[in-house]
Amino acid sequence: MLKIDVLTIFPEFFGQVFDFGIIRRAKLAEIVEINVHDLRDYAFDKHRMVDDRPFGGGDGMVLKCEPIFAAIENLIGTSERSEYPALTHVVLLSPQGKPFKQTDAQAFADDAKHIVMICGRYEGVDERVNETLVTDEISIGDYVLSGGEPAAIVIADSIVRLLPNALGSDTSAENDSFSDGLLDCPHYTRPANFRGMSVPEVLLNGNHAEIGKWRSIKALEKTRANRSDLLTGENGEM
Ligand code: ADE
Repeated sequence: MLKIDVLTIFPEFFGQVFDFGIIRRAKLAEIVEINVHDLRDYAFDKHRMVDDRPFGGGDGMVLKCEPIFAAIENLIGTSERSEYPALTHVVLLSPQGKPFKQTDAQAFADDAKHIVMICGRYEGVDERVNETLVTDEISIGDYVLSGGEPAAIVIADSIVRLLPNALGSDTSAENDSFSDGLLDCPHYTRPANFRGMSVPEVLLNGNHAEIGKWRSIKALEKTRANRSDLLTGENGEM
């Protein structure tokens, strides 16, 4: 079973996000356990402070070391990165992180046993957290969120659905976008004709070789139109 712990100053933000669909089923089937922790529970000074002003001046507040180190010691048993149990990851969500890809989701799903996600906030997190505790600093895209919380949800979701047996037997991740370096092909369902818009004839004739060929062509067309970088390897995807 994969264990995911999320460290945040806004635990309520996560409400019921992990209680629907595939993630809910995976939790019930004990394929994954997800726990959300309030960073403030690890702030032991008299004001339970989790953030402070940046050294050197500047805008905003920086998440402090002490509560994060205490939380990691509690969740993993040590704050010595070299002593983490095998297949343990401490992920820091930040716009400065490495871009997260489907291949990363697959690697976590294949190998990880315990993932602790630290949701950054404000102007940042004291860099000593990164230098000492973090194994993977991850960004979900080239835009700035007001905190790492939505990113933690995105990453947890993308990993959990790839865990063995998380998808029902009637679905599979094999044909997902990115699984072969391309976007997924278009899909249609009934009615075959809707307000004069008809479904491509080839999908109705039951010829699976032809359908497969059509799907490959359409996946390539879609990729060329929306994500030509995937074909040229411009962003290092291929
Ligand atoms: N926190 C703020 N922006 C982020 C991003 N793009 N990815 C991950 N965490 C973030």
